[in-house]
Amino acid sequence: MAQNQLFDISGKVAFVTGAGSGIGRDAARAYVEAGAAVALVDIYPERVEALEEELRGKGYKALAIQADVANEQSVKHAVEQAVEYFGHIDIVLNNAGFCPSDSVEEFGELEWNHTFAVNVNSIRNTSKYILPLFREQGHGKVVNIASIAVSVYNTGKYFLKDTYPASKAAIVALTKTLAARYAKYGITVNAIGPGTYKSRMTEAVYSNEQRLKEYSERVPAQRPALPGELNGTILYLSSSASDYVQGQVIFVDGGISLL
Ligand SMILES: NC(=O)c1ccc[n+]([C@@H]2O[C@H](COP(=O)([O-])OP(=O)(O)OC[C@H]3O[C@@H](n4cnc5c(N)ncnc54)[C@H](O)[C@@H]3O)[C@@H](O)[C@H]2O)c1
Repeated sequence: MAQNQLFDISGKVAFVTGAGSGIGRDAARAYVEAGAAVALVDIYPERVEALEEELRGKGYKALAIQADVANEQSVKHAVEQAVEYFGHIDIVLNNAGFCPSDSVEEFGELEWNHTFAVNVNSIRNTSKYILPLFREQGHGKVVNIASIAVSVYNTGKYFLKDTYPASKAAIVALTKTLAARYAKYGITVNAIGPGTYKSRMTEAVYSNEQRLKEYSERVPAQRPALPGELNGTILYLSSSASDYVQGQVIFVDGGISLL
């Protein structure tokens, strides 16, 4: 492959979960700017419909799909809608997530299970319906959004409590087992561990100046991620440039996972 085509994703279709906000929405914008079409999947239809309108208004190919990634039938239907509309899927960005702040002692079983359902079962669900398509076409890119929470257990006064890191660690294990099994079909499965990034999920951090300052002082880069700062790694793991990269977690975190 010519060097200048390594990062080329034009004509590809990306299935982006949690596309209605934050990291997923920024990634969807990056995918279309790089020439791909996007299936915008979110539990809140109004969020992805607004993004669909924005992207189509700029001449890009986008389809809003309402789905609950924690629900297998809902994901099955979403995959069918994307394939019917675009004809194929080449990339899946498993990004939808839920971040509770309770500990095992405070948590009800329902909340614990919900966290795992949204963060982990979701990847099981998309994998079940998208990996067979990837296998059949002989290529496919899976990018899973984990977190620095798999390597940083104490962010100063603000501990990331039990459930969320446990669910993100499960994503890493799933990333590695799927990568090992599906590599022979021309499929790559990798993960990204973002540090703090402005989104709905981190509103409590960004609306508290003192808290953001304390976090920033701990990060070697002395600041949280800037909007769009995950996109380079997302596009890399979604393109041929990463065809020999399997089961890796790339931390995009200003160095906080080094502490
Ligand atoms: N923002 C950060 O600092 C940060 C850091 C590390 C990892 N992450 C991870 O990045 C991912 C994206 O988070 P974000 O910060 O952009 O959050 P966000 O809350 O801004 O966006 C998440 C999106 O996922 C959607 N979603 C939630 N549950 C869903 C479900 N069951 N089905 C379909 N869609 C659902 C939400 O509606 C929302 O639009 C998550 O997996 C999160 O754990 C975020």
